[in-house]
Amino acid sequence: MTTQPLPKPLYEDRAFLRHFWHPVCTLDELESAHPSGRGPMAVTLLGQRLVIAKLNGKIVAMDDRCAHRFAALSKGTVVDDTIRCNYHGWRYDSSGKTVHIPACPELPIPRKAATTAHECVLKYDLVWVRLDSTWDCTEIPYFSDWDTPGMRNVVVPSYVWSTAAERRWENFTDLSHFAFVHPGTLYDPAYDRPPIPAVDRVDGELRFAIAPPPEMIDKLPENAPMGTFTYRCTMPFSINLKLQLYKDSSAFTLWTTSCPIDETHCRNFLIISRAEKADDPDHVHIAFQKVVLQEDQPIIESQFPAEISAEEVSLPTDKVSNQYRKWLRELSVAAAAGKEAFARALTTSVKDESVKA
Ligand code: FES
Ligand SMILES: [Fe+2]
Repeated sequence: MTTQPLPKPLYEDRAFLRHFWHPVCTLDELESAHPSGRGPMAVTLLGQRLVIAKLNGKIVAMDDRCAHRFAALSKGTVVDDTIRCNYHGWRYDSSGKTVHIPACPELPIPRKAATTAHECVLKYDLVWVRLDSTWDCTEIPYFSDWDTPGMRNVVVPSYVWSTAAERRWENFTDLSHFAFVHPGTLYDPAYDRPPIPAVDRVDGELRFAIAPPPEMIDKLPENAPMGTFTYRCTMPFSINLKLQLYKDSSAFTLWTTSCPIDETHCRNFLIISRAEKADDPDHVHIAFQKVVLQEDQPIIESQFPAEISAEEVSLPTDKVSNQYRKWLRELSVAAAAGKEAFARALTTSVKDESVKA
């Protein structure tokens, strides 16, 4: 049997992604994982299996492996602010140390009886984990309207796609696909020539904006969020797409990020943020976004291989994705050179002067 040769991925070493914060589940998903409301819950981030739980009122993330016989702690139970492994009952505190071994409580606890705890915080009602905090030079991504008075934020249940997180990011910011993947849903198919915006790098974000033709709203469903699109995308996977709706000038933000489960799977998070109005139920907006996702998912999961590659043919109209890939590559190379180079690659600003305002 011959094996089909695969195009080379854009970068082989994904270790630089360990320096970023990634969401692994919604607060609601953690609280629903077990009747206690405190987990434990299994998640995977960058190929690493983790257990998430609420101990001492705080959410913790640890490697999902009991030091004894390597059973999954996520199959255990939260007992007295510890996670109890449900194979032989070892108990782990919030720092990952074993604090109780029922089989021989009179013996000292072995020094190696521990699992690794990782940095973990709750923000935007999502549980965020950073696997490598040694450089401590990344922040939780930007969200324009989480705390803005008068805005209503709806955290949609997360969903998994069989593709790399990079491809999901590129799909969400792809300005050429609307006419073909979302005709009549998000876009008028007559507008199949995409704009080429200025794409800047500012403070760890890619920023760009477009203004689709206002007249197309007559051809779209009432709930299609159509207006000026302003993107602020915190590297590597988050997107804050803020719209000013053409129909009533109100604010509407789609905030999304993709958690890299591994090279070929991502868990995606979506928060819909909109101006609070009477008679504007959440489910209408969630249902509309689901329709859009169902249009995207099959085509994105068909991209093969799932990892992005420099061998793909790019056009000037792919500028957003071209710039994104360029920066990702720079970050991966810089990370291999160390903290200073990585921090510089992340924070250096680049102003795109090629497009006149
Ligand atoms: S495998 Fe966890 S207590 Fe034995
Ligand atoms: Fe799409």
